[in-house]
Amino acid sequence: MKVTICIGSACHLKGSREIIKEMQELVAANGLKDKVDLNGAFCSGNCVNGVCVTVDGVLHSLQPENTKAFFEKEIMGRL
Ligand code: FES
Repeated sequence: MKVTICIGSACHLKGSREIIKEMQELVAANGLKDKVDLNGAFCSGNCVNGVCVTVDGVLHSLQPENTKAFFEKEIMGRL
């Protein structure tokens, strides 16, 4: 599964670094390093939607506070 987190400036301001850090911790804590491929990406033109995260090409909008819930539902829930 490929998960891409936007690190463009607008998403950075909205907390993409925290989201990446938390995702890395969640992936490691759940032993999913072989299954979840975390990547950074530059601006995809969806800045208004907050931190843009794509999961296998499907765009989602995230905030640092809902990273864990998102991870459980959209990542763990799909593996
Ligand atoms: S900065 Fe993330 S979509 Fe533009």
